[in-house]
Amino acid sequence: MVSNIVQNAVLHAFPGTASERLLWVRCGAVNGFAQVEIEDRGVGIDPVTLNAVFDPFVTTRMGSGGSGLGMYVVHNLVVEVLNGTVDVESEQGRGTTVRVRIPMTTPG
Ligand SMILES: Nc1ncnc2c1ncn2[C@@H]1O[C@H](COP(=O)(O)OP(=O)(O)OP(=O)(O)O)[C@@H](O)[C@H]1O
Ligand SMILES: [Mg+2]
Repeated sequence: MVSNIVQNAVLHAFPGTASERLLWVRCGAVNGFAQVEIEDRGVGIDPVTLNAVFDPFVTTRMGSGGSGLGMYVVHNLVVEVLNGTVDVESEQGRGTTVRVRIPMTTPG
């Protein structure tokens, strides 16, 4: 799941020969949730793609390796299976942050 998101940053965020390829992965516990944030300083996601980023087969890499299922699978796993949330913030030219929150169940 995290690998899908990191792979997107590596594959989509830095086309060409960007001088810097900045990517952060932050993990922590926030209000009873395990939180993982994956942030890149890449090209960002255009608004039309961003609006449908969790839909199946939405890709800007049609015919060159993208199936458009990566974020769909992440959404399904996090929301349907793990009862968590996933949000994508992105601004073109500035980068992208994906935030996953999964509730931590208390034992007993
Ligand atoms: N970090 C990112 N930076 C720029 N664009 C992104 C980023 N993450 C996702 N995208 C955009 O969102 C689209 C959908 O992502 P998604 O992971 O669902 O599909 P994909 O990566 O194209 O194909 P797949 O994951 O199935 O190999 C991508 O094609 C890309 O345009
Ligand atoms: Mg992908």
